[in-house]
Amino acid sequence: MIIQILSLFPEMFEGPFQSSILKRAQEQKIIEFRLINFRDFTLDKHRMVDDIPYGGGSGMVLKPEPIYRSLQFAKETKPEPKVILLTPQGELFKQHTARQLATEEHLVMICGHYEGFDERIRTFVDLELSIGDFVLTGGELAAMVISDAIVRLLPGVLGSEESAVNDSFTENLLDYPQYTRPVEFADLTVPEILLSGHHAKIEAWRKEQALIRTAARRPDLLEGLNLSEQEKQLLRQTLNLKLNQT
Ligand code: ADE
Repeated sequence: MIIQILSLFPEMFEGPFQSSILKRAQEQKIIEFRLINFRDFTLDKHRMVDDIPYGGGSGMVLKPEPIYRSLQFAKETKPEPKVILLTPQGELFKQHTARQLATEEHLVMICGHYEGFDERIRTFVDLELSIGDFVLTGGELAAMVISDAIVRLLPGVLGSEESAVNDSFTENLLDYPQYTRPVEFADLTVPEILLSGHHAKIEAWRKEQALIRTAARRPDLLEGLNLSEQEKQLLRQTLNLKLNQT
């Protein structure tokens, strides 16, 4: 997979892309990142990438031409990429978006900075993505977050110990609680069931815990689930228990 990123601040990507799993994935040639500074695609002597808004108002607006030209350059690499614009106005990026994008061979991400884009830039892209309902100084951090979430899903990137199969959100549930040694720490003990060696019971307990945790912290996620009668019963019981305790 190739991910090309159009940004005015390519140096921002050095830390996240040169460490840990993303670094290893590049060494293994599973992913190639290319950073393109669209200031290099300006034609004027001041290398201007933005300008004042028509109609007045504060802040600067990114000009369409440097981004268009840098995108044409990025598209010289085949196959035809899916082009993504990072913006708080985009569709919310979710785990299922990561899974879908992980099937693409070539992505181009456009990172804006400053106040906004000339609206015509939107006509160059296939998809607009936001990583949450907050405003960042630019699309770079969003591009890093999205790249990380995609690359860890590519076959061969995670070893078996790091497998993505049990990730939170994979089944629209949050992760179950995990424990490691020691069995007792600061008067807190590991749940007995996890020491039992009974795999079927452990699996059932984990599913239960994931359900309870999701119901408590992210009840919105349960709406998309097809819960069995038994699971619904479990949630009713735990929610009642909680009410009785308070
Ligand atoms: N650019 C600025 N804020 C953003 C956000 N929340 N998501 C994606 N791109 C952004």
